[in-house]
Amino acid sequence: MEKIRCLVSAGPTREYFDPVRFISNPSSGKMGVEIAKAARGFGWETTLILGPTSLEKPEGIEVFDVVSADDMLNRALALFGECDILIMTAAVSDMRPKKKSKAKVKKESLNMAVEFEPTPDILRELSKIRKNQILVGFAAETNDVKSYARGKLASKNLDAIAANDVSKSGSGFAADLNEISLIFKDGREIDLGKDSKSRLAKKLIEILAAEFFPQAGKK
Ligand code: C5P
Repeated sequence: MEKIRCLVSAGPTREYFDPVRFISNPSSGKMGVEIAKAARGFGWETTLILGPTSLEKPEGIEVFDVVSADDMLNRALALFGECDILIMTAAVSDMRPKKKSKAKVKKESLNMAVEFEPTPDILRELSKIRKNQILVGFAAETNDVKSYARGKLASKNLDAIAANDVSKSGSGFAADLNEISLIFKDGREIDLGKDSKSRLAKKLIEILAAEFFPQAGKK
């Protein structure tokens, strides 16, 4: 069998409302970069779409830098046709300012309300145009983690979702540890436990490979 082609998204997005100010979230991109490294280590041809982070670019992986949710959507649309599996770990900003001012907004006018609108849901858009691609999402939650994750799995029409508990100190956003359960479309659940992001990433890729590409093996 040909090499499995894996597309990973990681990091936050930034939604600017003037040239120097934006809304975003504290995602470091670590989990997604570890997943891209693990996929490549497993022998998959791996491409990474990366929001703004301070992480070093992983070797041997083609990286496309993006800033906003729109950039990420456009890059994902361009690469989606050429992938067998998309693992979307990016913490896409849910909202963006409706207007972006060309000039820096003066401090005195900053208290005027910035109006927001939703960003496009990238996974949902891609699941509408999928052919044979496997779609895997991430759900970072602080409470009712698995039940919210199951809701997103269904509403975004995914094959699997990693339910990610970010409530405990020392794990989740920007930390080196994480806690993940993988939930499949048919309801099965595999608990990967609490571990380093790099070990969790390796476990995750092995499980996804066995589940979705059993013939391909490790290259
Ligand atoms: O933000 P939310 O919890 O809905 O994220 C769940 C999954 O959906 C993640 O895999 C995330 O990358 C993806 N997502 C997306 N487009 C958005 C928001 C989230 O693809 N606008």
